[in-house]
Amino acid sequence: MHELLIATHNPGKRREFAAIFDGLGLTLRTLDDLGIREDVEETGATFEQNARLKAEGYLALSGLPTLADDSGLEVAVLGGAPGVYSARYGGVQGPAQLQYLLDQMQDVPWHQRLARFVCVIALARPGQPTQFAHGALPGVIELAPRGSGGFGYDPLFYLLDYDQTVAELPAELKNQISHRAEAARMARTILEQW
Ligand code: IMP
Repeated sequence: MHELLIATHNPGKRREFAAIFDGLGLTLRTLDDLGIREDVEETGATFEQNARLKAEGYLALSGLPTLADDSGLEVAVLGGAPGVYSARYGGVQGPAQLQYLLDQMQDVPWHQRLARFVCVIALARPGQPTQFAHGALPGVIELAPRGSGGFGYDPLFYLLDYDQTVAELPAELKNQISHRAEAARMARTILEQW
């Protein structure tokens, strides 16, 4: 039985990965399972760099093959912002962050509000180069928030194919189509080769 450290404190993320990695014969551990309290700082300028920093940092701390992900929102008209700064965009959190994003896009017309959620997963193991998996979900930044599901920017992220914001989608559907799910499926094919 092989162990894989999922470098997160979030039990929800472990559940999402467990569903997608089902049948691989992996035992998934989280940082809390292993009692790892150190934080590897996300000082990178890209999602890849941050995912690599975390995967290699927690591999060094645990000795276990490690998966780390980094994700965020990229808005085309903002030059890809908030990007790696998504969690602390505008120096605010929660609903104030949605308002901050709307303020940045006040005069931007609907057809120029293209955005995408991005997820990069890094997989690190001893003595081998770190490998990467990518996922993206395209959408449009809404003019006002709608819906109560999900987290982060979900209430402002409108999906053309569903005519709903991500916060209006059932959680199971989000977990099938999300940037994280896409990257996790690609990570699964990498893990199958290990
Ligand atoms: P993390 O990589 O999971 O730490 O996510 C970084 C930030 O990106 C979060 O704090 C959110 O602001 C944003 N983000 C990432 N994924 C999602 C998502 O699925 N919905 C909404 N916001 C997201």
